[in-house]
Amino acid sequence: MLLTGDKARRVSAQAMRAGGGGTCPDPWHTFRSGDLMTQLLILYHSRTGGSAQMARAAAEAAQAECEVCLLPVAEAGTDQMLRADGYIFVGPENLAALSGEMKAFFDLSYYPLLGRLEGRPYAHMICAGSDGYGAARQLERIVTGWRLKEIQPPLVICTRSQTEAEILAPKQITPEDLALCREMGQTLAAGLSLGLF
Ligand SMILES: Cc1cc2nc3c(=O)[nH]c(=O)nc-3n(C[C@H](O)[C@H](O)[C@H](O)COP(=O)(O)O)c2cc1C
Repeated sequence: MLLTGDKARRVSAQAMRAGGGGTCPDPWHTFRSGDLMTQLLILYHSRTGGSAQMARAAAEAAQAECEVCLLPVAEAGTDQMLRADGYIFVGPENLAALSGEMKAFFDLSYYPLLGRLEGRPYAHMICAGSDGYGAARQLERIVTGWRLKEIQPPLVICTRSQTEAEILAPKQITPEDLALCREMGQTLAAGLSLGLF
């Protein structure tokens, strides 16, 4: 069951008082599924909405399997990373690299987390205009330093925006591409909750 709005706030506030799920700072972002405590953290940044839709789709599919924390990267820190059992990173490619906001998160948390996440599973999704693999490779190199374990190759979704107007416009990810994002969320969450990784 996906909890949203006031109901999610009430349930998550109760969970926090009980000591569970307490490190996802905005309770609205925590989708709880029963009392399962294995947690998948989905961190995202999005400038024009594409990556946000992809992250949301993955979270909706994952929440049937385990606890999911869906968090904008600007709100994430070392506590959220340490609390989670696995990760999906989602963000745009900008200038053949990760968006500055995604990169800033890694810049700030890389050394505080070095040696503390080894072996935890991850996957990543990139929203791009026409390429996406520069950002995907950059992310892989960063998290290789943390010794995270890649579970799936990157999912790169191209919005086919080429002109300035297209690039700056709000994005609508197609149902087919959102289905791929859901599949990735479900795979990571199911594997985590079954202890497969
Ligand atoms: C400053 C800027 C640079 C970009 N550079 C690239 C690029 O190098 N390669 C690419 O495929 N798309 C590039 N894009 C397009 C975005 O990746 C694309 O619009 C994507 O949908 C953005 O994801 P978002 O909607 O989550 O922000 C760029 C967009 C902006 C605004």
